Amino acid sequence: MKKKAIHILSIESSCDDTGAAVLENNKVLSNIIAGQKIHAAYGGVVPELASRAHQQHIVPVVDQALKKAGIDKNELQAIAFTKGPGLMGSLLVGTSFAKSLSIALNIPLIPVNHMQAHVLAHFIDEETQKQPPFPFLCMTISGGHTQILKVSAYDDFEILGETIDDAVGEAFDKTAKLLGLPYPGGPLIDKYAKEGNPKAYTFSEPKTPKPLDFSFSGFKTAILYFLQKEQKKNPDFIKNNLNDICASVQHNIVNILINRMKKAVQLTGIKHVAIAGGVSANSEIRATLKSMENEMGWITYIPKFEYTTDNAAMIGIVGYFKYLNKKFGKADALATSRLDIND
Ligand code: KG4
Ligand code: ZN
Repeated sequence: MKKKAIHILSIESSCDDTGAAVLENNKVLSNIIAGQKIHAAYGGVVPELASRAHQQHIVPVVDQALKKAGIDKNELQAIAFTKGPGLMGSLLVGTSFAKSLSIALNIPLIPVNHMQAHVLAHFIDEETQKQPPFPFLCMTISGGHTQILKVSAYDDFEILGETIDDAVGEAFDKTAKLLGLPYPGGPLIDKYAKEGNPKAYTFSEPKTPKPLDFSFSGFKTAILYFLQKEQKKNPDFIKNNLNDICASVQHNIVNILINRMKKAVQLTGIKHVAIAGGVSANSEIRATLKSMENEMGWITYIPKFEYTTDNAAMIGIVGYFKYLNKKFGKADALATSRLDIND
């Protein structure tokens, strides 16, 4: 007899994107996301505005996800939601909504760690994605995190290295702010970099006490001083050289990331290498990682573009694995702004 399909509704609200998805087992039936343009003018996410926008978006986004999937809420087996890490006010909107709906439908509630979800997005069944075998290395690069992980099972993550200050997404976004670009600047740097010379300017790689750790606050300061110096000579320096500056900054950041990955492969002997998180949408990191297949003999895993930045489908796939293992949450499950990768 054919096994009954499991339908899970998942909700993501950790930062400034409200997401809802419906998965049928490990396949995505719908993945809806509502971004928040309101933060662009402020140069970063304003937590108070983010939680207010989540409240406006959550009902229509969930409604759309169910409609697009062609699934009635009474056909759902469970509800998964992001319990953390993230902005407390934002997390509370998704958490409260998920709890209420699970009580109303009398189905299990599954709390999901957002950072595990970025990594496990690789296990969504998609034609364009291949699934890594355990153990594999994953560099999780986002607006809030920069980590190199050894992933030994769906629920076994070891941090081999991480940033000691800013996340790599912040390095992109803060540089973009210095260049007068709106938030989030990462995708814009990627766009302008395509027309620029990546070798036009170089910035020294910040040193860290541990070989697999990262530091990006010094990098950002180096760019600030560089821009101030050049603007003294030519006030139009940024305007006249935007493409070259973006290409060079991006190239330097990608070099830092790839150098750390090379060290991690060397130290662990693991050649299955994945990237995850918002910055894994970057075209240069995607291309450079892919080129390591020929250059270094790595087997690389690059997530489908849709699953790089924050989305609910990645929450759904973790929900699915937890559902199979009956790892359910209780109605008193709490949103947590800080959360370790294994929690
Ligand atoms: O994973 P994510 O959506 O949210 C967090 O969990 O932090 O990551 C957002 C980060 C932002 O810093 C954004 O600028 C960056 O990902 N990002 C990019 C690109 N697309 C998104 N950075 C560089 N190039 C991109 N194409
Ligand atoms: Zn994220």
